[in-house]
Amino acid sequence: MPTTPAPATDLGPDPVPPAAADLAEKRSTVRALLRLWPYVRPVRARLGTAAVIAILASCVGLVIPLVLKWMVDGPVADGDPAGVWLGAGYLLLLGVAEALLFGLRRWLVARPLAGVEAGMRADLYRHLQRLPVAFHDRWASGQLLSRGTTDLMLLRMFLAFPLTFLLVNGVTILVGVGIMLVQDWTLGLVVLGPAVPVMITCGIFEKKYSAVARRAQDQVGDLTTVVEESVLGIRIIKGFGRHRSQARAFHELSHTLRGTELRKARLLAAIWAVIVTLPEVAIGAALVVGSVQVADGALSAGTLVAFLSTALALRWPVESIGFLLAMSQEAATATDRYFEVMDAQVESAGGAGDRTPVPESGGRGPASRGAARAVQAPGEARLPAATDGLRFENVRFRYPDAAPGSPPLLADVDLHIRSGESMALVGATGSGKTTLTALVPRLHEVTGGRITLDGEDITALSREELRAMVAVAFEEPTLFSATVGENVLMGAAEDAGAAELDRALAVAQADFAHALPEGTGTQVGEQGLSLSGGQRQRLALARAVVGRPRFLVLDDPLSALDVHTEAAVEAALRQVLADTTALIVAHRPSTVLLADRVALLSEGRIAAVGTHHELLRTSPEYARLMSGLAGAGDDEDLQEGDGR
Ligand SMILES: Nc1ncnc2c1ncn2[C@@H]1O[C@H](COP(=O)(O)OP(=O)(O)OP(=O)(O)O)[C@@H](O)[C@H]1O
Ligand SMILES: [Mg+2]
Repeated sequence: MPTTPAPATDLGPDPVPPAAADLAEKRSTVRALLRLWPYVRPVRARLGTAAVIAILASCVGLVIPLVLKWMVDGPVADGDPAGVWLGAGYLLLLGVAEALLFGLRRWLVARPLAGVEAGMRADLYRHLQRLPVAFHDRWASGQLLSRGTTDLMLLRMFLAFPLTFLLVNGVTILVGVGIMLVQDWTLGLVVLGPAVPVMITCGIFEKKYSAVARRAQDQVGDLTTVVEESVLGIRIIKGFGRHRSQARAFHELSHTLRGTELRKARLLAAIWAVIVTLPEVAIGAALVVGSVQVADGALSAGTLVAFLSTALALRWPVESIGFLLAMSQEAATATDRYFEVMDAQVESAGGAGDRTPVPESGGRGPASRGAARAVQAPGEARLPAATDGLRFENVRFRYPDAAPGSPPLLADVDLHIRSGESMALVGATGSGKTTLTALVPRLHEVTGGRITLDGEDITALSREELRAMVAVAFEEPTLFSATVGENVLMGAAEDAGAAELDRALAVAQADFAHALPEGTGTQVGEQGLSLSGGQRQRLALARAVVGRPRFLVLDDPLSALDVHTEAAVEAALRQVLADTTALIVAHRPSTVLLADRVALLSEGRIAAVGTHHELLRTSPEYARLMSGLAGAGDDEDLQEGDGR
């Protein structure tokens, strides 16, 4: 089901302040839109020129009534056909000039604005890549998708139209009103009558529309999430015959969105009605008053014609204000939504003391410990570097969104995997094994304690260094829409070639890749769903070993393999593990036997460490875990293991 969109204030570790809603209401459209300036700056010259051209075009349009006045009072009154033709010629010229100028404006802004949109989209994507896993855990993907698509499109449209035309129309209205007042100030005042009520309506409209626009955009995000989930989960939906309930969920959401869109339409209709009706009434009144004045001889017919055509020429600039304001509101919301993501803290590049600790209720103060560690140079590690292996020291961890007051998931993990040693990590399901492995490549930050690689605190390493040292393969093998080779070589240095690829495929027993229609150049479908689970797992394993990492972290990497393939992968892995320091999460005794020693994770601690046989003897919990699993079909493995 869709998650409700996370408001900006919900992103930090702080709870949502109660005043958040008020703040959101008080936020100013202009201030929101001003944040676009850094992106607009590079194209400001073009936009400025375009605005000037548009103002010019509008003013050219306003000259037309003056020519009309000259025609009516001059050639028409005098019965001079040549003069009328001349006037018509002028009008044609003015019309063509206006059209050309507007065309030029369009041409001027189209390319730079497409560039602004592309730039913002690229920034968003880059930022999303750098945001911590915890952020992605919390945000629904549809919300991010809709920000990268709909919202950015709204912003481009705002920059193309309302930004220019609110200015252009404002100037046009001012000049037009000036002209009308000069023609005849009493008529001018009659036409200006509705200005105040129109402005008040615009103010009310803006506030109401802003809230609805935000709601609509968030709902589009929810809808996108549902579509995305049901496309990705189509196998489950079909397998369980859930398409009806899924369709119902979708229908409900789209019905809600429809309601919100209708509310937007109603608001627009209301402002449109006021903005159109009041000026029309005023023009009608001016027509009556003007006709009376012409009849009395107080006003020339030409002046009345000029006055009325100026008033009519101002109709569009006035009427379009409703639309323009609506688009501006949507753009302001889109800007807010865009920067909610852009303002989220990215992972630091690395280096000592840069960790942003997640507040922890009770226990040791992670912040002060972190600060103390920051001054400790890597050389101060207890063992000489390069022989120390992978160490967990008093590691504490709780998920940022864990229930307040709940005990940390990892309370006090102390574990030392010696250099070149492979350690299996065993524990009940949900005990935090996956979480512990994710701490090593810093997908999550420890909330206390530290992890060292060859004596160096992982927070003192840059992300690049860290990720070059550590390779990972997770329970869920993730593949991308790319070729098999590209998927595997993701784990290697840029210059890695076919030799490395073949070696890694051999280690992971993924030679099936060579037999694919186009060998390692075969495209795997989205998420690798065109491959079997075991095939995907082996490719993910190949990706983990291809870069010959010094540290290997494998989260139950062999779970989807048949007994024979598993045995083959194990044989090959044993060679890799011989000179790699490895932490391998294992559920099956056969996987455990790959490792030199086993650690048992229980209740947030390492409860026991030893060889498989030692633990079977000394730890009842370990024996229970292993025998329970053996009972599920791994008897042979266990007995085989016991025999070794
Ligand atoms: N992103 C997350 N946010 C909050 N809590 C989480 C998150 N991921 C996992 N948890 C919680 O942390 C606990 C440990 O999860 P973890 O995936 O580490 O278990 P595990 O030992 O790997 O289990 P399994 O053997 O089933 O793979 C679970 O109770 C889970 O609910
Ligand atoms: Mg797990």
